[in-house]
Amino acid sequence: MLHHHAKIERNSILLVILITLVVLVGGIVEVIPLFRMETVIEPVKGVRPYTPLELAGYDIYIREGCYNCHSQQIRPLRDEVARYGHYSLAAESMYDHPFQWGSKRTGPDLARVGGKYSDDWHVAHLKNPRAVVPESIMPKYSFLMNNQAKLSEIGKHMEALRVVGVPYTDDQIASAYADGVAQAHTEDLDENVAGLKERYGDKVVARVFDGNAEMVTEMDALVAYLQVLGTMVEFPAAEAADDQTSDKQE
Ligand code: HEC
Repeated sequence: MLHHHAKIERNSILLVILITLVVLVGGIVEVIPLFRMETVIEPVKGVRPYTPLELAGYDIYIREGCYNCHSQQIRPLRDEVARYGHYSLAAESMYDHPFQWGSKRTGPDLARVGGKYSDDWHVAHLKNPRAVVPESIMPKYSFLMNNQAKLSEIGKHMEALRVVGVPYTDDQIASAYADGVAQAHTEDLDENVAGLKERYGDKVVARVFDGNAEMVTEMDALVAYLQVLGTMVEFPAAEAADDQTSDKQE
């Protein structure tokens, strides 16, 4: 055996070829399993794909470049957890394509902004941030009130997301438009809201998010999206407060 090895050591070309082979095989064995989401991300109870209305809001978030100023990733450091809540779990962004972790915080992290403010606050803030936070430098997004949310195309978007692993069912895709409208207009559409909850779970919130029941606006969609951020997983209060914040340092 050693005798053969001496041959390899004396022939540099053969050595390079064999090293490349070994590194390739080793690399493939290490890297390939990571492409399968289910082997890297631990499933967590409560995490579900976005409803059509929330997904429309997520699209607006990307279109408007909110991620340029806002991250959606709470790191497991004491100050972050004290300010924003439980650190982000991988599973919480597993259905985001592309993910919205961000790399810059001109504004606060939004990973758990859901439920922190009322819908009215969000609408007032998005229309004119200075109206509620005088020192804010965030741009105004008042035009979202006048634009209709693009729900007629959202089913196609869901189909595309299914290709990359988001488990939307045929039923959810077929009902995408109706579900989107139902989530933003509760009053006379109780039946549709029941269908929406059947498909996405009882925790889904259906209401007039922007205060205008006449039209499903982009404001409805964006606020529905912001209000669900970080609310899918329920953390025991004690765990969020102390356990995980111990003395980890980066
Ligand atoms: C130029 C940077 C910038 C952009 C772009 C931006 N924001 Fe902000 N945002 C801020 C700053 C700064 C604050 C903190 C002051 C305030 O509350 O207005 C903030 C605050 C917020 C808050 C309140 C967070 C909290 O916990 O108090 C929300 C929600 C929010 N932004 C959503 C959005 C959304 C949605 C978009 C895209 C439509 C967006 N922002 C775009 C800078 C920005």
